[in-house]
Amino acid sequence: MAFSDEFLEELRDRNDIEGVISSYVNLKRQGKLLKGLCPFHNEKTPSFTVYPDTRSFYCFGCGAGGEVITFIRRIENLDYVEAIKLLADRAGLQMPNDGYDDSLAKHRQRLLAANREAARFFHASLMSPKGKTALDYFLNRGLSMSTIKHFGLGYAPDSWDSLISHLKSKGFSLAEMFDANLVKRSERDGKTRYYDNFRNRVMTPIIDLRGNVIAFGGRVLDDSKPKYINTSDTLVYKKTDNVFALNFAKNGNPGSLILAEGYMDVIALHQAGFTNAVASLGTALTREQASLISRYTEEVIISYDADEAGQEATQKAIRIFSETGLKVRVLRLEGGKDPDEIIKKHGKERYKALLDGAANDIEYGILKIRNKYDIAFPDGKMGFLNEATDLLAGCNDIELDIYSGRLSQELEVDKTAIVNEAKKKRARRRSNERKNAFEEIKRTAITPKDEINPQRKQFVRAARAEDILLSSLINNPDFFDQLRNRLLPETFLTDFNKRVYSSLYSRLNEGLSIDLSVFAGEFTPEENGRIAKFVAMKKEISNTLNECFDCIKVLEEEKQKHNSVDPANASDDEFMSFFRKKSN
Ligand code: GTP
Ligand code: MN
Repeated sequence: MAFSDEFLEELRDRNDIEGVISSYVNLKRQGKLLKGLCPFHNEKTPSFTVYPDTRSFYCFGCGAGGEVITFIRRIENLDYVEAIKLLADRAGLQMPNDGYDDSLAKHRQRLLAANREAARFFHASLMSPKGKTALDYFLNRGLSMSTIKHFGLGYAPDSWDSLISHLKSKGFSLAEMFDANLVKRSERDGKTRYYDNFRNRVMTPIIDLRGNVIAFGGRVLDDSKPKYINTSDTLVYKKTDNVFALNFAKNGNPGSLILAEGYMDVIALHQAGFTNAVASLGTALTREQASLISRYTEEVIISYDADEAGQEATQKAIRIFSETGLKVRVLRLEGGKDPDEIIKKHGKERYKALLDGAANDIEYGILKIRNKYDIAFPDGKMGFLNEATDLLAGCNDIELDIYSGRLSQELEVDKTAIVNEAKKKRARRRSNERKNAFEEIKRTAITPKDEINPQRKQFVRAARAEDILLSSLINNPDFFDQLRNRLLPETFLTDFNKRVYSSLYSRLNEGLSIDLSVFAGEFTPEENGRIAKFVAMKKEISNTLNECFDCIKVLEEEKQKHNSVDPANASDDEFMSFFRKKSN
């Protein structure tokens, strides 16, 4: 890791943390700080904090933290060098070219280049005579030439090696094609054979937010199975983290996004003018995808297929979105199995009408429950009300008022009775939650689990003193002159804190300045989160030299205690074990 301090300093100057982070997170100023919803975990109330003065960020919810390079590493899923490169590009800075190891970054670039070349090849094949059947397939499904171009759709010829020979002619190696999952290999009779992964399929490229082709979905032209072959995870693609067509949709109508199931639905929706449509990539919606979507919109309209599988997936998606604070509406498809079919059969006006009438998630929930019961009978009515009040118990007072009013009219039941029942359930639920939270605190207080510094369990008192020392020094580097003789890396008991201090120690000894970016290259993003916590701890400690000396004393005491048990001060048990050790 051979970036000079000067380079890193300039990189940080030209990428102010507030500017960089606010292109990913909606930040609101609060005095000297900025707050927003954490992009690294799902939350409804902001605990993600940016500290412009120390050029750092820290999330009190999940512990993510660090400086601008760590932020980019985590949010873009890049390694250290790639993150620096991105920031250098962003600021128009030249990367220094003295010998850092960028082989992984280069390999990724090669895979992206291979994907791009493959997309070009598939598209050209679609437009060539051998792609006629495939082009007819798209045209028969109602796609226009301009939609086909816009999405860069293509055709993988019916051949075992046409992509291989094309990519070879462009200088790509079989290993690169294999790592991009464009080709597969088989071993037979001790020989390795490579062949095209996608054969005789219409191809949809998947493009990330920076315009890279990261993967493909390939569909058969008929009813054979499997219907789709998709790129499996590679160095440049993780399907659970990406959302199809978000690259287009984020520019369309960011007020709301339509979430559909299939690629073909999304493409048909865009063609019909609903350019805010996206899809998860052939998986059930993941938290990562929900969190990504929530960065680009305030409201999501779930528009899954009308069949049972689609409805089940809708329920799951509602649950996942409920952790993000997004407004959720659910579109009930009537008159077709999926958005694509509705538009084709009834026109885009019909779909627009469905969109406008899309129920919010409460209405949708009530509707689902109603379908389970026959409310013409008292039993059915009771069952329905019982489940509906469960649902209303999770709503706010305004929602409760509106929906209990509607239910009371429909079922001819007293509104106050419905409201009271829901409130009773709400109170019970809250008290359970509080009890659980209390149990959780008790549990973690007894056995503090700390994955970054696992030795905390063993050295509780020392680890706390170490944390304070590190926080004091990072926030007040001028203390070092007074501490340097008594506080050596060996003074620390836990390995993680010792590593942090060693790094600090050598810099401070050389008279260099301390900035979080010092740690970005040496420590993992998770570890950087802990170091950012030391910065954020500033408010909890007294920031005095006296406190530091007290902490050093604690470390010295603890070290003694753990290294050797002093017979004079030992408890009976310790004394006995000391005695036993001596005698055998
Ligand atoms: P059409 O049936 O042509 O309208 O395609 P569709 O894209 O709407 O597909 P469908 O609704 O059947 O499935 C939704 C999504 O699930 C697809 O876009 C794919 O991402 C994924 N998918 C469907 N079938 C398969 C399959 O056989 N294998 C894999 N890996 N994914 C599939
Ligand atoms: Mn479909």
